[in-house]
Amino acid sequence: MHLAVLLLVSALSGATLALDNGEMRVPPMGWLAWERFRCDIDCAHDPKNCISEDLFIDMADRLSEDGWRELGYVYVNIDDCWSSMKRDEKGRLQADPKRFPGGIHKLARYMHDRGLKLGLYGDLGTHTCGGYPGTTLDKIELDAQTLADWEVDMFKFDGCYSNATEQAKGYPLMSKALNATGRPIGYSCSWPAYQGGLPPKVNYTQLGEICNLWRNYGDIQDSWDSVLNIIDWFFENQEVLAPAAGPGKWNDPDMLIAGDFGLSMDQSRAQMALWAIMAAPLFMSNDLRTISSGARSILQNKMAISINQDAMGIQGRRIVKEKNGIDVSWRPLSNNASALVFFSRRNDMPYRYQTTLGKLNYTAGSYKIYDVFTEKTTTLKDTTGFVVSVNPTGVVMWHVSAPAKRNLRQFYKGGRLQGFAFGNDDENVVPHAFL
Ligand code: GLA
Repeated sequence: MHLAVLLLVSALSGATLALDNGEMRVPPMGWLAWERFRCDIDCAHDPKNCISEDLFIDMADRLSEDGWRELGYVYVNIDDCWSSMKRDEKGRLQADPKRFPGGIHKLARYMHDRGLKLGLYGDLGTHTCGGYPGTTLDKIELDAQTLADWEVDMFKFDGCYSNATEQAKGYPLMSKALNATGRPIGYSCSWPAYQGGLPPKVNYTQLGEICNLWRNYGDIQDSWDSVLNIIDWFFENQEVLAPAAGPGKWNDPDMLIAGDFGLSMDQSRAQMALWAIMAAPLFMSNDLRTISSGARSILQNKMAISINQDAMGIQGRRIVKEKNGIDVSWRPLSNNASALVFFSRRNDMPYRYQTTLGKLNYTAGSYKIYDVFTEKTTTLKDTTGFVVSVNPTGVVMWHVSAPAKRNLRQFYKGGRLQGFAFGNDDENVVPHAFL
């Protein structure tokens, strides 16, 4: 009921015009093979890590058994190097028969049986980036139909080996072709990344109408340098990028790499926090079979996820860039709440950053603060000076809401104390789950 009203309101307001497939009203979450497993097809020597159906089955098992699915991580996405080098006798794409003996359709069924979804990769052009068969303009309808026949739920359409003219035709055509199959398939477009990510070459209004998400920028690698480079590009271009995002249409700064080899725990928290602030898709690319408990708890942080998944779908922005190396980013959330991230670019030691909520544009009043990673709460007035200690290349992340009013009352049922309840007029409380 609520959802229906929300959809109606957003449809009427026209403010959230997006690809009309009803998909991805909040940023999609799941797992994607590429950054961690690349194009390892050497199953003879590396059976556990090669791109094969076993790998995706393993990840699906981990997502459904280790608490990920319940948090929203539902996509299991195959990337490049899944297909046979040849199309079949009817011209259709087909999976490599040795590495995917059951085929893609069976894998999709495996996901669906577990409440998960399957994503697949293709490429507009003669070849994929890894040299596998691509989708030329004449093959778009056929390939869209094949995806639907296989019950695929999401499609990443890369852009290697095509030129700007072909891309301008192919990306909208694929959008139409996917819609025409009648199967809702989330559509991820790499188009802007191939055109420099910025207007006038990139038309974000059009992208929002034809794609559910899009890669704007280069590939993430397993290093802090790479993450920082992406952070910088997205925040430097936020005036162009933030207005493009909304329910059903998201900027994609690429995968989460917490749990791999390149990031410290502080850097992993920084990536998670800033991806949440940016309303970015949350696709992990790591090995869920061996992930450390530290990385797992960062990626499974409920408040960071709920900030990322906020229903208004407004992409946050950097609001302060201090000379001392501290950046502050802010994202407005439903129910007059918001999120703040204090991010340190420093390399020396924890920095004690002093400010007030008033200086960060909060209006007069008293606010409830929930620290996303330490889980501590406190109350602050807009005028109260406070200090946050931010580790080098790390973050402090806050959920900020109006405090519970003083009508907090205990309630009794059958004479026994049941718990606490807030008055009905009180919308701006920290979600109870997080207290
Ligand atoms: C491009 C994409 C990556 C990945 C590879 C696969 O580089 O940007 O995300 O899909 O191709 O070859």
